[in-house]
Amino acid sequence: MNARTSLTALAAAAALLASASAMAQGAKLKVGLMLPYTGTYAALGVAIENGFRLYLAEQGGKIGGREVEFSKVDDESDPAKATENVNKLIKRDGVDVLIGTVHSGVAMAMAKAAKDNNVLLIVPNAGADAVTGPMCGNNIYRSSFSNWQPGYATGEVMAKKGIKKAVTITWKYAAGDESVKGFKEAFEKGGGSVVKELTLPFPNVEFQALLTEIAAIKPDAVYTFFAGGGAVKFVKDYDAAGLKKSIPLYGSGFLTDGTLEAQGASADGLFTALHYGDSLDNAKDKSFRLAYAKTYKLQPDVYAVQGYDAAQILGIGLNAVKGDVSKKAEFAAAVEKAKIDSPRGAFTLSKAHNPVQDMYLRQVVGKENKVVGIASKSLADPARGCKG
Ligand code: PHB
Repeated sequence: MNARTSLTALAAAAALLASASAMAQGAKLKVGLMLPYTGTYAALGVAIENGFRLYLAEQGGKIGGREVEFSKVDDESDPAKATENVNKLIKRDGVDVLIGTVHSGVAMAMAKAAKDNNVLLIVPNAGADAVTGPMCGNNIYRSSFSNWQPGYATGEVMAKKGIKKAVTITWKYAAGDESVKGFKEAFEKGGGSVVKELTLPFPNVEFQALLTEIAAIKPDAVYTFFAGGGAVKFVKDYDAAGLKKSIPLYGSGFLTDGTLEAQGASADGLFTALHYGDSLDNAKDKSFRLAYAKTYKLQPDVYAVQGYDAAQILGIGLNAVKGDVSKKAEFAAAVEKAKIDSPRGAFTLSKAHNPVQDMYLRQVVGKENKVVGIASKSLADPARGCKG
C-alpha cells in the first residue's frame, strides 16, 4: 500500500466511522435540495420540493428510519454558478444526499461533484443523457427521464400520424439538443425528415423572428422542447402568430405540464408525449392527487411526481441499509431490484439508474393533459457507456 492509497483507505474508514457514530446518536438525515426557486423554471423547483415533502410526510417525517433536516440552495438554473452552489451543500453543510435539479447543465455539475465526493445524488428532473450514461455510478439515480425519452416518443407519434416534414425549435443547451436528437431519431426512422433546426439561447423568449421563419418554411408540423415560463410564452406566441391552425405544434410533454392555467386556450388541443398525464387510471395516482391537492391546494404535475418518486427511491435504498448512506453498493442493489409504485404507473430503474417507463400520448383538453394513448411502452434509454 503506498502513501496515497493508505490515505484514501484512512479517509474512507473515517467517513464510515463518522456515519456510523452519527447514526448511533440518532442524527438527522441531511438532505440538500438544490433546485431553481427563481427564473423560468421556478415553479418546477417548487413542485419537486412539494412532491418530495409529501412522501416524507406520508412516512411520518422519516426516511430510512431517520428524521430529515433540509438545506436549500436556489440554483437559478445557472450552470455558471452550479459548482459553487453544490459545494455549499456538500462542503459547507455536509449533506448525506443531494436532490437536484431541473436544468441539465446544472445537473451535470452536480453529478460531477457527487462523483468526486462520493455523495448520494437523486436527480428529480434534469434529463441530461450523460448523467445516466458515462457519469453513472452506485451513488447516482434519476427519478425522472433522460432527455432522449420524451423526444423519441413524440417522434414516433408524429411519424405514425404521417407527418413528413418537420421543423424543430428549442433552447440551445443539453436538454433542447438531446430532446431534438431523440425526436429526430424516431421521426426519421418512421419516414419523416427534419428540414430545419431552430434554436435560441436559454432562457431567452424572443420567439418572433423564429416564428416568422417557421411561417416561411411551411413544414407539416413543428416539434419543440420548452418548459416552465418559457413554454407558457412560446405556446401563446405560436397561437398569436396565427401558426396554430396551419402548422400543428407538437412537443415533449413539458410544453404543457404545469403551464395550462397560464397558457389558456392557446394550448387547447395540443398533442405531447410524456411519462405522466392528468387522467391516469391507477390507484396510486388517485391517492397521490388527492393528498397533493389537499396539502398544497394545487393539482400536481409531472415535476411533483418526480419529486415524490425521488423520495421513494431514497426511502427504498435507505431502508435496505438501515439509514446508513455510506453503504452505497447495498443501497444500489435494493433500488435496482425495486418496482417503484409511482403515480405515473409502476416503473423500474435501468442498470444506469434511469427510469424504464411508459410514455403517454396526451392531448390538452381544457386544463388537463388528457391521456389518449401510449406513445411508447416501457421505453428504456439506450445504453450510453455506463460501466456501473
Ligand atoms: C432539463 O434541463 O433537463 C429540463 C428542464 C426542464 C424540463 C425538462 C428538462 O421540463
